[in-house]
Amino acid sequence: MDNKILSSLYAQDNFRRLGKQLIDVLTDHIQNTTQEINKKTIQWNEPENELDFWKDFFENGTDDDFFNQILKRTTHTHNPKYVGHQVGVTAPITVFTGMLSNLLNNGMAVYEMGMAPNAIERIVIEKLCETIGYNSKSGGFLTSGGTLANLTALLSARKAKVEHDIWNEGHNEPLGIMVCEEAHYCVDRAAKIMGLGEKGIIKIPADENFAMDIQQLETYYQESISKGLKIFAIVGSAPSTATGAYDNLEAINKFAQMYNLWFHVDGAHGGAAIFSEKYKYLLKGAEKADSMVIDGHKMMMMPTITTALLFKNKNHSNHTFSQKADYLLNDTEEDEWYNSGRRTFECTKNMMCMHWFILLKMYGQKAFNVYVTRQYDLARDFAKIISKEPNFEIATEPMSNILCFRYLKDNLSLEELNHLNQSIRRQLLEDGEFYLVQTKLNGVHYLRTTLMNPFTTIDHLKLLLEKIKKGIAELLSKKD
Ligand SMILES: Cc1ncc(COP(=O)(O)O)c(C=O)c1O
Repeated sequence: MDNKILSSLYAQDNFRRLGKQLIDVLTDHIQNTTQEINKKTIQWNEPENELDFWKDFFENGTDDDFFNQILKRTTHTHNPKYVGHQVGVTAPITVFTGMLSNLLNNGMAVYEMGMAPNAIERIVIEKLCETIGYNSKSGGFLTSGGTLANLTALLSARKAKVEHDIWNEGHNEPLGIMVCEEAHYCVDRAAKIMGLGEKGIIKIPADENFAMDIQQLETYYQESISKGLKIFAIVGSAPSTATGAYDNLEAINKFAQMYNLWFHVDGAHGGAAIFSEKYKYLLKGAEKADSMVIDGHKMMMMPTITTALLFKNKNHSNHTFSQKADYLLNDTEEDEWYNSGRRTFECTKNMMCMHWFILLKMYGQKAFNVYVTRQYDLARDFAKIISKEPNFEIATEPMSNILCFRYLKDNLSLEELNHLNQSIRRQLLEDGEFYLVQTKLNGVHYLRTTLMNPFTTIDHLKLLLEKIKKGIAELLSKKD
């Protein structure tokens, strides 16, 4: 290469040196976090201070210090005291598949730009469809995240259930979808992107366990159609985000059948329970859904971001973005499975299929069975412990690995309790030993744990509870 800067960009000795250095740094990181040699899960820094640090680093920092500083200044999901957001604790092997994808950069949209990954993706999708209980007509693809996958599924639903050619001619009647009020906000966002407007998203109230109140479906449906809305889809959460409650998918499916609605399952978080011998019953009914989403980067130990969007009838996935109005679905037609860009929202995507493939090939479905079962069991065990505490309550019995709970005391008002629970969460964030999050349910503040880490034990959670109790006692004593 004649240009000096370009030859140094591609210099192999530098790549090898930095690569070896990074592998050492990451291996130490895995050891130091999983074995808690690093005591903190997060070293909290105020946003402005963090910005100042990186401005200064850009001018004065040494390149060799970059990896170490990143590690110091991020949240350590591999620490067993990480009980925060629904982010996968990545299996280290997927670091290598990520590296491969980043270097090779085969965008996958067309077969020539991703022969191996297009073939691999098909194998992964077939395995997932089979596990759900779909038959040989099924299919799907991998895409960049649950948000995008839910939007794509709803676009497929509209294409399949609304006669008018909206793709080419725009809307000619008010359309709507039904979903529980507790569903992830991306469903609402998808509906708005699709131009359904606020009135086009029919939010079914949640029952006392924060799952869709099935009893209310009929009333809400009738009310909507009486206002002239055409409802074309219903979404079940498996589970919802805040509390981890699974909707009754069987009941939703029955309802969908009755009114010829597209039935979509948002299993971004807990679709992976399909692999758990013990907990797959939570997904009963998903095998009848028209489409289903499962995130790899949540409960399947893969890096951000990779999502499977699966269709009971793969033809629907072929025609979501079809530019022709008169395209007829044809069950016998051979689809161009090897040109995956025909079906995905994105044109270029990374070779995310390699994460799924290598985990399934090296460890098999058993790894997901063991992992999901363990994490769901752990939430139930933790809930039992909290329920025995006189001054704590759980929001609802956990159905997944998400557990919301709060401190409670008779002589304190709701406002005071909300403030107290928010304050203890802030205190824990600044302390950094544990990382947990919070949520608000019907105006009540809860501490929220998502037990993502396979190294978290019930002893870690007992320690967390003790720490919360101690912190609250201090906060209350300051108040007096
Ligand atoms: C139920 C549910 N659906 C969808 C999403 C969005 O998925 P993603 O973050 O992969 O876009 C989330 C994220 O937390 C979720 O919990």
